[in-house]
Amino acid sequence: MPHELKKTVVLVGMMGAGKTAVGTVLARKLGVDFVDQDDEIQKAANRSIAEIFKENGEAFFREKETRVLERLLAGPPCILSTGGGAFLSERNRDLIAAQGVAVWLKAELNLLWARVRYRGTRPLLMTDNPFETLKSLYDARGPVYALAPIHVQVFSNYSIDDTAQAVLETLGTHPGILADDTEITSHARS
Ligand code: S3P
Repeated sequence: MPHELKKTVVLVGMMGAGKTAVGTVLARKLGVDFVDQDDEIQKAANRSIAEIFKENGEAFFREKETRVLERLLAGPPCILSTGGGAFLSERNRDLIAAQGVAVWLKAELNLLWARVRYRGTRPLLMTDNPFETLKSLYDARGPVYALAPIHVQVFSNYSIDDTAQAVLETLGTHPGILADDTEITSHARS
């Protein structure tokens, strides 16, 4: 299938926003590759994110994150989901702006919490009070995610497909991202 994307769409936002799930469906609708930054970091390091944090610390993880981001952005246009902390670094934001476009999947705190609370895979939430930790990350990060040029609200009553469709339709309103002849409506809904 020909690429219908002119530049890589980089999904940013909090853990639990649905970057990976929505990105997978969005890529399918567009007929382009989906790439998950955290997966690529894990493959390159041959370890899980939790192991990297535990054995080498967060600063090391953040360096890997930037290196992988740089490599992925240099490839053909795709849908790229980032880890929740990736957009906090100015260098990463600059890389994304230079070679792609950032889309903030914006979700309410309660929705994020409902999605992450039973998962033990996120090292930053392995604290005595993971809700408070999530809330402080949410409060601190919101203004940074807001720097993304495109925002799409994630609603609790939306399916993954609904949110992917909302992203697709929003992309269509921004020139220079989708090929001019990309059909956004019915046929892209699958
Ligand atoms: C992180 C989010 C995680 C992962 C790492 C750090 C963060 O990705 O990159 O645990 O700083 O918010 P998800 O957003 O996919 O959970």
